[in-house]
Amino acid sequence: MPLVTTRQLLDEAAKGGYGVGAFNVNDMEQIQAIMEAAKETNSPVIIQASRGARKFAQDNYLYHLMLAAAELYPEIPLAMHLDHGNSFETCESAIKLGFTSVMMDGSLKPDGKTPATFEENVEITKKVVDYAHERGISVEGEIGVLGGIEDGHGAGGSGLDHVTDPDQAVEFAERTGVDSLAIAIGTSHGAYKFTKKPDGSVLKMDLLIAIHKRLPNTHLVMHGSSSVPKDLQDIINQYGGKLKETWGVPVEEIQIGIKNGVRKINVDTDNRLAITGAIRKVFAETPEKFDPRDYLTPARAAMQKVVAQRMTQFGQAGHAGDYKAISIADMAKGYASGSLVTKPLVTAK
Ligand code: G3H
Ligand code: 13P
Ligand code: ZN
Repeated sequence: MPLVTTRQLLDEAAKGGYGVGAFNVNDMEQIQAIMEAAKETNSPVIIQASRGARKFAQDNYLYHLMLAAAELYPEIPLAMHLDHGNSFETCESAIKLGFTSVMMDGSLKPDGKTPATFEENVEITKKVVDYAHERGISVEGEIGVLGGIEDGHGAGGSGLDHVTDPDQAVEFAERTGVDSLAIAIGTSHGAYKFTKKPDGSVLKMDLLIAIHKRLPNTHLVMHGSSSVPKDLQDIINQYGGKLKETWGVPVEEIQIGIKNGVRKINVDTDNRLAITGAIRKVFAETPEKFDPRDYLTPARAAMQKVVAQRMTQFGQAGHAGDYKAISIADMAKGYASGSLVTKPLVTAK
């Protein structure tokens, strides 16, 4: 199947009542791990690259690896998504390259650190939506600010510092016409999300439910959704790592989100942990080895295992064959004619 838009994957997920994991990549082995997991579980999938990933891998390598994935797994609906675009130019260059969806994270200023004003966020996001939809590409916006910092991106602090205001979420969706909306409900990027297992007082699921009630037609996105499993932390520490005790987002909480409008779930850290643990194990147990394939093969397998598990838990498993690809040209026609309604149906408070 050719690369498809995230909008199509999420529309289908909404029809089927499931969520779709969006997994970050930086290299070939991570793309391979995700595609094998998708094949194993028969899942549609979103592969996403951050600005840091684009810098690390270079755009052309990333794009051609994604084309190879689409070619090798024609049965898998696959979207290529820009994670946390910081400016119009970043989104524009991703679209010109061939990404089939972009995130314009206007919740932060272009420095990727300082919270932006609501009006700044609306203005930049609308500009990206207009540009992208004309070209058949879907757009994710963000309202509210996540906690933590990954690779220099993020406002820092706790995930509860800037949770999403439901009134602002409604106004933002109406004024920008985004296809999907990332909301801040207490999660953070990275491994250090919570100092104890989070319960209802930490993760604002009530807020999520309130937003979904008022924006039933807007696909919600949960960032910072790694579960940071204890067994993956333990492997790293057993083989010489020094992770401090930490908790991530329990899968059961994500599943509550999926029942209440969450369609895209972003996961990066869990895969980083799986890869690092597997490599450390080989280094510790067989220090005489020096062929990268000796440690990259188990690293790739460890990531595949995590991704396949999440695909099953999010409910996307089994849905790869449910639909045919809508071409990017037809998506553009749909946006132009209004048949792909992007303005949400806003219900009363
Ligand atoms: O949003 C954060 C993702 O985990 C990507 O992280 O910016 O370090 O590539 P990165
Ligand atoms: P994690 O750090 O929890 O994996 O979140 C990843 C993410 O939100 C990417 O945008
Ligand atoms: Zn994120």
